Amino acid sequence: MNKFKSLKIIILIIFSSGNINCQNNTEKYSAFHPGKIWKDSNGTHINAHGGGIYYENGTYYWYGEHKGDDSKARVGINVYSSQDLYNWKKEGVALAVEKDPNSEITAGSVMERPKVIYNEKTGKYVLWFHLELKEQGYSAARTGVAVSDNPIGPFNYIRSYRPNAGKWPQNFKEEWKTNPVGGDPEKWWTPQWHKALNAGMFVRRDFEEGQMSRDMTVYVDKDGTAYHITSSEENQTLHISELTDDFLNFTGNWVRVQPGGQNEAPAIFEKDGTYYMITSGLTGWDPNPARSFKAKSVMGPWEPLGNPARGIDADKTFYSQSTFILPVQGKENAHIFMADRWNPKNHIDGRYIWLPIEWENGKPIIKWKDEWGLSFFDEN
Ligand code: GAL
Repeated sequence: MNKFKSLKIIILIIFSSGNINCQNNTEKYSAFHPGKIWKDSNGTHINAHGGGIYYENGTYYWYGEHKGDDSKARVGINVYSSQDLYNWKKEGVALAVEKDPNSEITAGSVMERPKVIYNEKTGKYVLWFHLELKEQGYSAARTGVAVSDNPIGPFNYIRSYRPNAGKWPQNFKEEWKTNPVGGDPEKWWTPQWHKALNAGMFVRRDFEEGQMSRDMTVYVDKDGTAYHITSSEENQTLHISELTDDFLNFTGNWVRVQPGGQNEAPAIFEKDGTYYMITSGLTGWDPNPARSFKAKSVMGPWEPLGNPARGIDADKTFYSQSTFILPVQGKENAHIFMADRWNPKNHIDGRYIWLPIEWENGKPIIKWKDEWGLSFFDEN
């Protein structure tokens, strides 16, 4: 073999090993790139939409909706793991859809916004998610719960709820229980409806059956109490409810937040003893200006702080909708705003918008960044 031939072979080997590396995606991320394709360790765009994160022993677990080209649950809830938040390994399906057509989570149902919390008392991982029954559009408005002994599952589905059946909220006037303030729940989208809604028109309508529950999250407070936060009353009002000690049911202690405020996509965190919540408005898959709130306790009262987004495209929340706010482990007051940039034409292509929470006059704010890393929190 002459010198040139051997050089050619060496070059070929270098190039082909480079290709193999690319295919296996052994190249590691060392930053976040909001809105870009985000590959898992197999080189496939992460499929964990409307997600939430649970952390334990050095590992973050990201649960999210598996999406194909439509928005129905065909597979279930995916789970990924990571040690550094940039590089994610697909662990599999945490909660799978069921083949049984009579199951509430049969393939073709809607399973959205999964969130996992850990119960110290029972030693169980508890997964809550928004459930819509197959072929019923979004009319079922239920919240489902599943448990596992292991953060990566498999989770066993327990049941779904219309929360707080037969229970009045804490912040509800006595007279509203019996004395309707006008409004017809059947024809509610009328100029007069806001007053009637505020005075509990839908709460009364759904009192026996339980309250509607669509976009939701769950949150464990410092004292170990868990709360379920959901968009209810035809998506007009947020409901915050205390969960039972095992995190599997509702205690019946609940409050209404912002009646008629049309908040969806709730995400909550705590800093220095104050609770903050970021939500979206109500425009389906289309982006709108986010909202933010603060409170002294999870049960409120919640004070509006306005749109937390700043700069260009702030009025569209950078073309995204909140899903979770992640406290970064090992760093003081480091929180990541997690949101979805939905692609309803091809759901699997939906992108993730992760941005650091910044502060302006005591308010949490979000600013766009093409690329950023966790060192941001050390520098700011
Ligand atoms: C959005 C909601 C999503 C999904 C969608 C369906 O407002 O945040 O989770 O339910 O509507 O149109």
